[in-house]
Amino acid sequence: MDTKTPLKEIKVRFGEVNIGNINLLKLLNDTTLAVKYGESFYRKMLTYNDYTALAYLNGLLVGAIACRVEPYEDDPKTLYILTFNVLKPYRKYKIGKELFFFCDFKVLN
Ligand SMILES: CC(C)(COP(=O)(O)OP(=O)(O)OC[C@H]1O[C@@H](n2cnc3c(N)ncnc32)[C@H](O)[C@@H]1OP(=O)(O)O)[C@@H](O)C(=O)NCCC(=O)NCCS
Repeated sequence: MDTKTPLKEIKVRFGEVNIGNINLLKLLNDTTLAVKYGESFYRKMLTYNDYTALAYLNGLLVGAIACRVEPYEDDPKTLYILTFNVLKPYRKYKIGKELFFFCDFKVLN
C-alpha cells in the first residue's frame, strides 16, 4: 500500500467490541503485542466498551484501542489505555490516531 494514501481513501470503519468479536481482538493483540492477556482480561474488557474501539478496513480488523476511564490526581476522568495496536502493514496511515481520538472524544463529551 502506498504510504501517502490518505485515510479517507482507505475507508476505515469503527466498531464496538462485543462477545461475538472479542476473540478477533485477542488474535490481533496476540499478533501485535508482546504481552499475552488471559481470559479474565478480555471478560473485563467487555465492560470497558464505551472507551474501546475496533478499526476495520474492507471488513478486516486492522486495529483496536481499549481504554478505561479512571480518576488520576486532580482529574476525575483520565483515559487509561490498556491496549492499542494496528496490524503492521496498516501502520502510519493515521489509523492509530483516529482510534485514539475516537476514545478521547468520548471522554471529553
Ligand atoms: C502505536 C500504533 C498503534 C500506532 O498506530 P499507527 O496507525 O501506525 O499510528 P498513526 O499512523 O495514527 O500515527 C500517529 C502519530 O504517531 C506517530 N507514531 C506512530 N507509531 C509510532 C511509534 N511506534 N513511535 C513513535 N511515533 C509513532 C506517527 O508518526 C504519527 O505522528 P504524526 O501525527 O506527527 O505524523 C502502532 O504502531 C502499533 O500497533 N504498534 C505496536 C503495538 C504497540 O506498541 N502499541 C502500544 C502499546 S499498547
